[in-house]
Amino acid sequence: MSESSEAAARSVAERFERLYGAAPDGVWAAPGRVNLIGEHTDYNDGFVMPFALPHTAVAAVARRDDGVLRLHSADVDDPVAELAVDALAPGSDRRWTAYPAGVVWALREAGHAVTGADVHLASTVPAGAGLSSSAALEVVVALALNDLFGLGLRGWQLARLCQRAENVYVGAPVGIMDQTASACCEEGHALFLDTRDLSQRQIPFDLAAEGMRLLVVDTRVEHSHSEGEYGKRRAGCEKGAALLGVDALRDVPYAELEAALARLGDEEEVRRLVRHVITEDERVERVVAFLEAGDTRAIGPVLAEGHASLRDDFRVSCPELDLVVDTALGAGALGARMTGGGFGGSAVVLAEEADVPVITKAVEEAFAAAGFRAPRTFEAVPSAGARRLR
Ligand code: GLA
Repeated sequence: MSESSEAAARSVAERFERLYGAAPDGVWAAPGRVNLIGEHTDYNDGFVMPFALPHTAVAAVARRDDGVLRLHSADVDDPVAELAVDALAPGSDRRWTAYPAGVVWALREAGHAVTGADVHLASTVPAGAGLSSSAALEVVVALALNDLFGLGLRGWQLARLCQRAENVYVGAPVGIMDQTASACCEEGHALFLDTRDLSQRQIPFDLAAEGMRLLVVDTRVEHSHSEGEYGKRRAGCEKGAALLGVDALRDVPYAELEAALARLGDEEEVRRLVRHVITEDERVERVVAFLEAGDTRAIGPVLAEGHASLRDDFRVSCPELDLVVDTALGAGALGARMTGGGFGGSAVVLAEEADVPVITKAVEEAFAAAGFRAPRTFEAVPSAGARRLR
């Protein structure tokens, strides 16, 4: 374990003990993620390729057997929340506690005897930045309960339950990518995930060894899924699949793209959504092929194509994200695109190591000139998925 996760584990355990008057049974961590390519494909049964960030949600947890769930977060200025596990009900909670409580609800609803817990959480995943801070919270709690109650669930099964917690309990219609990334990613790898059956391939992704870097630029424009645009895109994709007579857009082969678009007639809005999803799945496959052939630099233009498709066809970008991408590409980046759901949040920039300072400065200056809030930029290194720290 790295020194910093050791220190995080200790401080979260100490805070737990001060809050609850006894040491926790253990400490767990689950990361946020960035998605390299494959956006808005997960709820179309398609392909995605996220990797885990070094930023994590850390949870100190003790098992309880009296039906009481106590929740506290170092990141929110709230006293300990006390809930009864058998009274947890979807839609009843609009606060951060809905994420961990939703996980307990989803586990119990699936028949797992989770009889209560004391939980203290602390996260370094930036919230509202499109980096899956909510998935990290869900997964870390799910993993802790899996261990403490001996449930024996695998990472992908925990991911499914966490997605259910978010869909039903929290009420956000998200796909399965973020939770699976947090649960299943491995250090030094990107995760090539088929969201239909959750089959996975770990793709070695060590940019530093090849003289490159991947920057995450957080525009600090807060995105929100529950505000409806995400749900509208999702509904539009479902309509497209129904019009084309397939279960999910994933079932339309790329070779049949033009024929499928022609069949959508004057459904212009749906046609754009469908075109994005089908071409995006193909882009994921192209990126995987380049990476497996050792041709990493070739993925740059594919990332840029993906951004154009999200901007023009899927229409989930925003001026700040477009400015990061255009400026970075203009300053010599190999590729750049928005990452995550969109409408704010973060972009990723693939660059030669030597070009990083110039690109970072160009983006900062462009934001200042446009009158936007200063962005926050950091380098993303593919890190470990969810794990027990102590
Ligand atoms: C959000 C959702 C994911 C996925 C992305 C878009 O991050 O949580 O399920 O749909 O948007 O790719």
